[in-house]
Amino acid sequence: MSAPLEVELDFPSEDALRGFAEEVGERLGGGEVLALSGPLGAGKTVFAQSLARGAGVPAATPVTSPTFVLHRRYAGRIAIEHLDAYRLRSARDLEALGIGELIEGGGATVIEWADRVAEILPAHTVWIELDVTGPCSRRLRARIPDGDRPPALARLRALCVRHGACPAP
Ligand SMILES: Nc1ncnc2c1ncn2[C@@H]1O[C@H](COP(=O)(O)OP(=O)(O)OP(=O)(O)O)[C@@H](O)[C@H]1O
Ligand SMILES: [Mg+2]
Repeated sequence: MSAPLEVELDFPSEDALRGFAEEVGERLGGGEVLALSGPLGAGKTVFAQSLARGAGVPAATPVTSPTFVLHRRYAGRIAIEHLDAYRLRSARDLEALGIGELIEGGGATVIEWADRVAEILPAHTVWIELDVTGPCSRRLRARIPDGDRPPALARLRALCVRHGACPAP
């Protein structure tokens, strides 16, 4: 068993962040939960878009914040379940939506504003927090749990290390 990884990565541009998110998407195999947090405009949807592309969702499929519909599914190499908890009153709303079944459904689940529903997310959730550090720069903090279930966790830790991730303070 490898240790959990808590790291910081700085991206100087939108392209750089998109490139990283696409690499994350390429490594997903299904069963992952990616919990995105950070303020309005931090880049959560940008991250989800590029992640979906990396997972094989065609460029012709629009990937936008599911703020009002709460959930969208995109077909790629694997399914991407895209959720947005911004308008939810409580985590119970997400349970009512059947998040358990979505997570178990064979695809990867990516949730914007996930900090609002943290208590119902599984232990193998990958936490990704985005912060605005300048007009075009963003800081990403990732917490990738221990273990290799689902197997993408190990691949994602290796990816962060390859990108020169620094241990988070
Ligand atoms: N390095 C960067 N990474 C990501 N987005 C960037 C970057 N630099 C600038 N941007 C811009 O920041 C905005 C990010 O918007 P996005 O919709 O992804 O934010 P969000 O976190 O999903 O916000 P919301 O909570 O409102 O859904 C976009 O307009 C994008 O072009
Ligand atoms: Mg968004």
